[in-house]
This record gives sequence, structure tokens and C-alpha cells, in this order.
Amino acid sequence: MIVSEEQRIRVMEGDWSPLSVGRHIVDGGLQEDPFYVMDVGEVVARYHTWRELMPRVEPFYAVKCNDDKLLVSTLAALGTGFDCASKAEIELVTSIGVRPERIIFANPAKMASHIKYSARVGVDTMTFDSETELMKIKQHMPRAQLVVRIRCDAAAAQCPLGIKFGCDPVTEAPRLLKLAAVLGLEVIGVSFHVGSGTQETGVYLRAIQYSRALFSLAANVGHANMRLLDIGGGFPGSLHSDIREVSQVINGALDTYFSDRSVRVIAEPGRYFAAAAYTLFAMVHATREVSQKDEEGIEQSHTMYFINDGVYGSFNCVLYDHQHVVAETIEPKCEKPQPCSVWGPSCDGLDCVLPNTFLPPLITGEWLMFRDMGAYTLPVASAFNGFPVPKVRAVIDSSVWSALKDLWPLSESHFCRGDPMTGPQTVDQSMLPSLSDTPSPSPSHSPAPVFVECALK
Ligand SMILES: Cc1ncc(COP(=O)(O)O)c(C=O)c1O
Repeated sequence: MIVSEEQRIRVMEGDWSPLSVGRHIVDGGLQEDPFYVMDVGEVVARYHTWRELMPRVEPFYAVKCNDDKLLVSTLAALGTGFDCASKAEIELVTSIGVRPERIIFANPAKMASHIKYSARVGVDTMTFDSETELMKIKQHMPRAQLVVRIRCDAAAAQCPLGIKFGCDPVTEAPRLLKLAAVLGLEVIGVSFHVGSGTQETGVYLRAIQYSRALFSLAANVGHANMRLLDIGGGFPGSLHSDIREVSQVINGALDTYFSDRSVRVIAEPGRYFAAAAYTLFAMVHATREVSQKDEEGIEQSHTMYFINDGVYGSFNCVLYDHQHVVAETIEPKCEKPQPCSVWGPSCDGLDCVLPNTFLPPLITGEWLMFRDMGAYTLPVASAFNGFPVPKVRAVIDSSVWSALKDLWPLSESHFCRGDPMTGPQTVDQSMLPSLSDTPSPSPSHSPAPVFVECALK
């Protein structure tokens, strides 16, 4: 079997970090394209944190956030369910062996052919928020198990979703529940999404209260077996974020309003699992000195840095996901940070990653690192103007790998030990004494990195 570079996972021993791996890749001088370092262990750690903090809430990963097969396979191996929004997402998830019962078709406005496909492969649970969707489901999948999606918006969110989806829980949902009963359709639950990147934790309490009221009402209008509460996404995903506070709000609300343990509770986290696992490395390939007037009208010098990934690639998240990305140099610098801007590689003036920031002086060929780049980046990126979408270099610590390797859909033939950088981006490892973030210690203190390469089936 031919294994492509991006399918390989490097099993790391000794001290390492995404930064040290990124440095190792660029140090050979042959790497020119931007790339991601994906730390599988970050995903595993987040899964365990979730299970510890919200044991009652089963995560169904929102595939739209990042459909990288390695991420999806890792979560499948850990046992999560999946929120799919389309036929292609269902195909992806089932192709790696996930049973249809572990999938919710969580798009309230589905194409008829996708509903038919869903029926064919046995993905029975799906959301709706309108009369026409009910009619469509009646026609194409009358045995579906339906979940009514209600609207309950956070006071502030990075990406509000209520403007597009979710019926009003007071004025619209009761009518839709009655209509579903008249049509002979089975409604089994309530779902909501408070907004992606929500900045208000209390909104989960409000949404769970609305859901409780609808569970009671549904039972009275003919939906005798309401059994699923889907609390959606909205959870933070960056390296320094924490779900402790939001989990306390959710656990408390569930204890109060859904003390009946026969109700299954799921969530659809996307950003939470994807963001921090991916670190992007991009190279400065051009610079330009300009002067611009500051707020007081005084001329200030300013450097424009052009890097090989931009808003048509990974940094589409700046436009669509309203992300604030942070550029870091990959080597320590003593020089004072200077005013500058960072631009993508395309010939479009819109292609600006950071219009006003501060970085120590950089020269062509130097690399920048951007952490927390795994959410709503890769699946949206295009190769506009001929600039390639970055490839993913996956790494896993050997301790995590030992625990995970038998759960993955992998066989022994997918593993090998040796030079990790085969193919066009080969790096001479003999020139690289250490993969550590810190200055290289003496060889006796520096365990040689050991790589085991493997690939997903
Ligand atoms: C229906 C649905 N569920 C889950 C998610 C994932 O949200 P988040 O990444 O905020 O967890 C989204 C994001 O748009 C969504 O539309």
C-alpha cells in the first residue's frame, strides 16, 4: 500500500512539542510550503477531560469543524459519536467503521437526496426546525427519529448560529411538535446550539430550561418517548481555554431539569476537540518596508511580511470564523518587536492575516508559528492563486500511542521505525541533534527522537 506523507503519524519519544517538531521540519532548509503539526495526544487529553467533567454528556464531534481523517478516526477510536451535516460527512464517518447509531444528522435544512441516503445507511436521528423539513422527512424517511432544534442564543459568541437555525422554543416549537404528531412522525428529543465560541456560560441553563418545557409539552401532544437532549456545541478550544465553568453550569442544569437518567444527553463539540491540536507553520517569503501615519499623523515605519498561507487558505478563519490569530517566531529573538503587518501569498488586497501587530525583525526564509489553528481552517481552505493548502504532519507521544494503537483502524504493516521525513520534504536528521524546545542539551541528556510511522487504512 502506498502511504502519502500526510497520512503518516510519527510516534515521538523523549522531550518534544509541536514547536520542536516544526523546527525540525524546517531546519533542513528544504521545506517551503506551510504545514500543520497535529498533536494527536491533545485530542486524547481533551476527550478524557470532557468525560471527567461531564460524564453524562456524550460528545458527538461536529465533523464540519475539521474533517481531517486522522482527527475523525482518533475520535472514533476513543468512542465519540459524530454530528454530520451532509451525505459526504456521513460517508466519511461510516467509511472508517462508525456505526450509524453513533451519528446524528444535525442539519435542520437537509437536501432530499441526503435524507434518502441517510435512510439507506441507517442514520435515523436527524434535526428539524420547520414545517417544510417535516414534510420532506415524511416523504423520504417517515421512520426517522426526530429532534426539534430550538433557538437560544448566547449574549455573545464568535459565530452566532441562531440567525440561521433553530425555531422559537415558545412560539414555534409547540406547533411543530403537534404537526409532527399529526404527520405520524416520531420526535424523540430537543437540540440547540448557543453559538460557536460562546462567551456566556449561563446560556446553557436557559436552553436546558426551554428543552425541559418542550419535553413535557411533547409528551402531551403524542410524543410519548422523548429520550434525547442534544446540547450542541459552543465550547472553547484554544490551548489555554477551560471547560470547567461551563461544565458546572451544564451538570447543574441537567441535575435540576433532567434528573431522569433515562434521557440520553449528547453534545456536538467541534472547536473543543480540533482547535488546539493543530499548530500552523508558515514562512516569510517577502518583506516590504513602508511608512504609514499613526493616529497623531506622525510617519511611522512599518514592515509588511508576506507569508505562504493566507485568508484563502488556513486563515479563512480570520474572515469566516472571526478568529484572532497570533504569530510567534519559531526561534528566540532578542530584538524589540516592531510594528508590522502579515499578509497572505495571493495577489488580493483582502489577503491580510494581521493588519497591525508587533514582531521582532524577520528576514525572508524565517518561519512563523500559529497555535490553535485546528478549528474551521482546513476544510474551508482553497488553493486560490496556486498556493497549496498546508499538509498535516501528525505526531503522537509514544505513551499515548501505546494506549491508542490497538483502537485505531491500523495493522502492524502500517508502522515502521526510522527516518520520519521521507518524500519530497526529506530532512537530514543527522543535522538535528534534538527535538526539544529548549537549547539542545548534551547528547547524553537528549534522548534521540524515535519515530514510528503509521498510516490510516
Ligand atoms: C449544528 C452544529 N453543531 C455543532 C457545531 C460545532 O460548534 P462548535 O465548534 O462551536 O463546538 C456547529 C458549528 O457550526 C453546528 O452548526
